[in-house]
Amino acid sequence: MKKTVLVSGGAGFIGSHVTVELISAGYDVVIADNMSNCDMTGYEGVSKIIGRELPFIRMDFCDSQAVDKLFSDYRIDAVIHFAAFKAVGESVAEPLKYYKNNLMSFLNLLDAAHSHGGCNVLFSSSATVYGEPDQSPVTEQTPRQPSTSPYGNTKQMCEDFLRDCVKAYPDIKGIALRYFNPIGAHPSALIGELPRGVPNNLVPFITQTAIGKRECLSIFGNDYPTPDGTCLRDYIDIVDLAKAHVCAVSRMIDGKMKENYEIFNIGTGRPLSVYELVTAFEKVNGLKLNYKYADRRPGDVVAIWADPTLANEELGWKAERSIEETLASAWAWEKHLAETGK
Ligand code: WQD
Repeated sequence: MKKTVLVSGGAGFIGSHVTVELISAGYDVVIADNMSNCDMTGYEGVSKIIGRELPFIRMDFCDSQAVDKLFSDYRIDAVIHFAAFKAVGESVAEPLKYYKNNLMSFLNLLDAAHSHGGCNVLFSSSATVYGEPDQSPVTEQTPRQPSTSPYGNTKQMCEDFLRDCVKAYPDIKGIALRYFNPIGAHPSALIGELPRGVPNNLVPFITQTAIGKRECLSIFGNDYPTPDGTCLRDYIDIVDLAKAHVCAVSRMIDGKMKENYEIFNIGTGRPLSVYELVTAFEKVNGLKLNYKYADRRPGDVVAIWADPTLANEELGWKAERSIEETLASAWAWEKHLAETGK
């Protein structure tokens, strides 16, 4: 019998790509999303790619009764929790909005999972929990640093909620995936990142500049202590990232976990500078990008990249797409948006 995975925030950027990979791996998926940070583009794109419509429940995970009803209505074998706010700067300005939403929604989910007989829970965490590490690559053993933003705090706290629930309730098993910098789009160009307003993240800003929606990309800082003076990150392709979720879900459902709570870094292990990323984008897509150097962005870490050995060995997962393929897919997606008037 097919296993069912609930994907909270399944209409968003990462959730939509994960849904596609879950379906192609033979899982059933139930999508739940309150659409607070996306429209139906992601859901419609998923339907086109997989050739059918999936159950879609428009609901807020802060509504405990709605979460409880979800677990009554469906037999859920695993849940992947994406539903959260994610803008670092906004979280500094509106901490309560972030704490209420990101913490309550996950607590409601854990509570419902436990009261309905338990569940496998995959939490969407972030490399942000490492703060500014003393050195890279970081392993899962690298100590977490005090967070510099309420957003980062919510990621750390939710990891702790999961760890403590797993310890106390044998019917809950948990995996936290710590993503580095997810970029790119599905090869079909039917799903991708669709930021509202001015993008905070680098790649959407690049593609919007290339298409003419933005005048000029600002590279934040070129005087960092790195080879070319710009920050170093670990850019992970979104389809590769999505596949890591399938590996993690299978590990939980198939009873292959070594501990009841596990953490994995999901990155490539290769650092790339902002400048290298920009020039790679220009080269692979055969265009010139209008960019300038600007002041450092407050709060940015200089350099962070993953040691993905644990995920490679334990999940049997490895980042496969080249940066060129990934940056070509990001550009194809931006052009698809332009063609469809978005
Ligand atoms: C990457 C690099 C910028 C925009 C954030 C969150 C993290 C995670 C992913 C989210 C940095 C530079 C950026 C621009 C630039 N989670 N940059 N010009 O900050 O590494 O990580 O997103 O949901 O938790 O903190 O990603 O894409 O914003 O920046 O020069 O217009 O690009 O300074 O060096 P970041 P990013």
